[in-house]
Amino acid sequence: MLGWIACGPVSDRCVYAGVVEHSVYVHLDARGRGVGRTLLDALIASTEAAGIWTIQSGIFPENTASLALHATCGFRTVGTRRRVGRHHGAWRDVVLIERRSPTIT
Ligand SMILES: CC(C)(COP(=O)(O)OP(=O)(O)OC[C@H]1O[C@@H](n2cnc3c(N)ncnc32)[C@H](O)[C@@H]1OP(=O)(O)O)[C@@H](O)C(=O)NCCC(=O)NCCS
Repeated sequence: MLGWIACGPVSDRCVYAGVVEHSVYVHLDARGRGVGRTLLDALIASTEAAGIWTIQSGIFPENTASLALHATCGFRTVGTRRRVGRHHGAWRDVVLIERRSPTIT
């Protein structure tokens, strides 16, 4: 397996029925060869086909590769959430990003 991408609902409230949060991961040996882009393009196409209007995710600020990948695919930065994550025992800031589908109006 070269990598994976997955998403799930952010809320069970009707108003957010078309909003999902995703994660993407590419094997260390397979990075920089377009796998992440291919996975993200496939997620965007499949979620739009299913009527999902917003995809969101949280990324650590130092993860420039992921921030660049998502910017390339039309994600924007909403802001930085302070000390919202706990990673290996340490509080972490997380950059909240989102992509609003231009085709679902
Ligand atoms: C982030 C990640 C998914 C990128 O996957 P990838 O297969 O290496 O990315 P791609 O080869 O498809 O690159 C697509 C674009 O992303 C950006 N990018 C990828 N790696 C980059 C790097 N090291 N530095 C800067 N930009 C980078 C570039 O814009 C690139 O486009 P380009 O090749 O035309 O310049 C991968 O590095 C990864 O799995 N990281 C660990 C897990 C993670 O951080 N997941 C995201 C949090 S949800």
